[in-house]
Amino acid sequence: MSEYILEMRNISKSFAGVQALKEVSIRCKPGLVYGLVGENGAGKSTLMKILAGAYRADAGEIVYKGAIRDQASTAEIIDSGISIIYQELALVRQMSVAENIFLGREPRNRLGILNLGELYDRAGELLKRLGIRLNLRLPVSELTIAQQQLVEIAKALSQNADLIVMDEPSAILAGSELDQLFRIIESLKLQGVTVIYISHRLEEVFRIADEVTILKDGELVATRPIGELDRATLVEFMVGRPLDEVFPQTEHEQGELVLVAEDVSTDTILAGVSLELYAGEILGIAGMVGSGRTELARALFGADPLTGGSIKLAGGGEARWGSPAQAINAGLALVPEDRKTHGLFTALSVRINVTIPILSSLTRLGVLKRAAEEAVVRGAQERLSIVMSSSDQETQFLSGGNQQKVVLAKWLSTDPAVIILDEPTRGVDVGAKFEIYKLMRQLNDRGIAIVMISSELPEIIGMSDRILVMNDGRIAGELAREEAGEARIIELATMGGSEAALT
Ligand SMILES: Nc1ncnc2c1ncn2[C@@H]1O[C@H](COP(=O)(O)OP(=O)(O)OP(=O)(O)O)[C@@H](O)[C@H]1O
Ligand SMILES: [Mg+2]
Repeated sequence: MSEYILEMRNISKSFAGVQALKEVSIRCKPGLVYGLVGENGAGKSTLMKILAGAYRADAGEIVYKGAIRDQASTAEIIDSGISIIYQELALVRQMSVAENIFLGREPRNRLGILNLGELYDRAGELLKRLGIRLNLRLPVSELTIAQQQLVEIAKALSQNADLIVMDEPSAILAGSELDQLFRIIESLKLQGVTVIYISHRLEEVFRIADEVTILKDGELVATRPIGELDRATLVEFMVGRPLDEVFPQTEHEQGELVLVAEDVSTDTILAGVSLELYAGEILGIAGMVGSGRTELARALFGADPLTGGSIKLAGGGEARWGSPAQAINAGLALVPEDRKTHGLFTALSVRINVTIPILSSLTRLGVLKRAAEEAVVRGAQERLSIVMSSSDQETQFLSGGNQQKVVLAKWLSTDPAVIILDEPTRGVDVGAKFEIYKLMRQLNDRGIAIVMISSELPEIIGMSDRILVMNDGRIAGELAREEAGEARIIELATMGGSEAALT
């Protein structure tokens, strides 16, 4: 048998008008980790969906475990030892964590009746073995995205695959969860499992991959052992030109106070959170999965009711709000982490998604000003380099990162006083990331205050004027830019039993 467990040869794939892959070839040996990188829309997920049987290639062949693979169903492909953690999480929201992990493979007795006791026992054992702490009985809809990600990982691992594809598994994992994921990958390697790892966080690729394949515009650019690459070279392969990776700085005096939260508590997890936000600054919010970052964003935006404390705009009028609609009127915008359920109308076009919040300003006497609308969309596309076939393209057919950019564009077209960004660069490629950073600073220059929640410590440290570290629903500490380092943030985020909130 060949030394490769998998060879994908000359794979091509087109979607109406878009050639997503052009004769791409990769091959993988057992027990190694393969990084797969490239800009948003480069074709990474498409290649992996072809491997997983979700799409059919137009041309090319797949040799798996020594034999050419014929067309097979996704179930047959899972049985053959391939499992995939999809970039867009594919869990059944109303089912519990345990049910999702064993979906379609639930333990049953001889009469075919579901054995719930065994289901929960086995799920419990699996999570324990993986060091993942989650309440097995909670419906997935009640988990944060990061927790859902952990369920996806557990699900893929429960299938005992020989080859596991992880499409952005870490997009919003930080600190200890990330270490946990890497420990899991190391142990998979030792068991001879092949891992294909897709990520826009290149430091992860350097940490975990043995070999890296770079795609650009659907074509293979290079495959190299990790030892022959440095970050700058890898970025140049991806982007096609050298890229200066420096966080854009603005020099500004601290502006006026715009928003004050005092002693805010909620039914979710927040327990006495106070913060002040000033015009033209970026306030970074760091913390582990489950520490209450997203819940803080929701509370600030009026999406979760307060059980104590208050949130108000400083200065004139003291506007208050008790719902997202009122929050928007008061001048707030929220870019949520979960773009699939809250951020986008995925069945509608890019154009409609981008212009929906400002529709009234684009209509005159009930008639849509087509040219003005088109200008807004074109401006957003250029500023954020959104890759789309046209502004009529449905957002569900954009690549993951480009969907994220559309969500951002949507809110940037409004003119808020405060923007809350929850994981603004999740799944966004390295070039576009710096475009988004520049954009954030431009907003600051216009006096807009930004609250940025992020799991990416380099981003938190590089972009924030001040950093609040959350831990177990509280603010564990505030750091000025000068004193913030990864070690200090992690220390504050993990003090005490921060994971208690998960179980
Ligand atoms: N079902 C589909 N219908 C139409 N076009 C599609 C479909 N799926 C993918 N595409 C297009 O194929 C190209 C490659 O997309 P793909 O999702 O593979 O990119 P990617 O490398 O995974 O990007 P990202 O880093 O943003 O996840 C993109 O231009 C995308 O818009
Ligand atoms: Mg993708």
